[in-house]
Amino acid sequence: WSATAHKDGGDLVVGEMPVADLVAEHNTPAYVLDEADFRQRARAFAEAFADFDVYYAGKAFLCTAVARWVAEEGLHLDVCSPGELAVALRAGFDPARIGYHGNNKSLPELRRAVDAGVGRVIVDSLTEIERLGEAAASLERPVAVLVRVTAGVEAHTHEYIATAHEDQKFGLSITSGDAFEAVRRVLATPGLELRGLHSHIGSQIFDAAGFEVAARRVLALQARIVAELGVEPPEMDLGGGFGIAYTTQDDPSDPAQLATEMTKIVGDECRSRGIAVPRLSIEPGRAIVGPAMCTVYTVGTVKPVTLDGGAVRTYVSVDGGMSDNIRTALYDADYSCTLANRTSDAPPVLARVVGKHCEAGDVVVKDEFLPADVRPGDLLAVPATGAYCRSMASNYNHALRPPVIAVRDGVARVVVRRETEDDLLALDVG
Ligand code: LLP
Repeated sequence: WSATAHKDGGDLVVGEMPVADLVAEHNTPAYVLDEADFRQRARAFAEAFADFDVYYAGKAFLCTAVARWVAEEGLHLDVCSPGELAVALRAGFDPARIGYHGNNKSLPELRRAVDAGVGRVIVDSLTEIERLGEAAASLERPVAVLVRVTAGVEAHTHEYIATAHEDQKFGLSITSGDAFEAVRRVLATPGLELRGLHSHIGSQIFDAAGFEVAARRVLALQARIVAELGVEPPEMDLGGGFGIAYTTQDDPSDPAQLATEMTKIVGDECRSRGIAVPRLSIEPGRAIVGPAMCTVYTVGTVKPVTLDGGAVRTYVSVDGGMSDNIRTALYDADYSCTLANRTSDAPPVLARVVGKHCEAGDVVVKDEFLPADVRPGDLLAVPATGAYCRSMASNYNHALRPPVIAVRDGVARVVVRRETEDDLLALDVG
């Protein structure tokens, strides 16, 4: 739950605003974004990682209002597409504080980013180095560059694989020598200025173990660059991936503890290798926006289904589904939900919250106990939907993507409006 969500006489309250009041005005389905909570989490990262640059990863969720909050809270911004860059620029985000990602940036895309004056481009292939050189030369603008490397670590929740296979599209391999070659080429390309190495090891990470192995491997490469190329890259980015609690089963990661551990790991490793400690940066997305948003749906159909063995599962259909939250179907993600418009003393029944799409896999919450009297017209709120739900939303079945309503101090403000049928039809030609 967001920091300020609580039940008040049965009504769920977010940002001091009863969810039922929000629904009366804005309808469902809707994403409700707790502005104070978002800002507090952004600030917590900025404070915990005070010696780092913190880039908010816009892929988790970005709109112009959020880009402004990110700027106001003093964070940098990570974008990974022309669309995200456009939103940031529309918001007036200082381009010098933007990092530009992507494994397949085209020349026009790179030219646009360079022309906009982005603070750094994270290159992901040898081909891209050539393209970026062309963009820098044609625009006569120097470009700061990080080289994204694969550190051979893949982290997910509490587990990490230290020798993750490198058979994936991101980054340049340290072990094969591609990463070193990329650094050499950046140094040799006029207009490109090597700032450092970048590594992103995965997502939903709860401890520093994976970061530790990755940082040591990246610093080994850093030491080789110092020794063999005679330059000392001044920065290093350790990526994002800080875990959040989706259900009460999870504990969120602790930014302050991770900051202390990461600072120590990098400091110790640099000292033992006799190299300077680079300026560090990180790119949290999920941990800032994930818990700050919930999705509110209206219950439509309620259908008890008898399972093999006689148990009953109650299928509760809501007015959204996999088009506004694909994560359950795509990643088998766990979510929970609660009745948002009333309390109930009815006994709990095993329920599955499903959407209204023409697909059996259209599940929002796999298993939840809901009161047996859950009925059409009830409101259900699903917490922790801030990251990768609206940003991965689709128009499947010509669904209209829900709005994002920001609430703060009892005031609601639409920051992304609901799509209309006219929006959809506007794309059809002929
Ligand atoms: N930096 C880089 C280079 C990344 O690729 C990512 C996420 C992040 C930062 C931010 O990671 P975060 O702190 O948000 O975990 N759609 C998936 C997640 C994909 C993450 C892609 N990269 C999901 O819904 O779980």
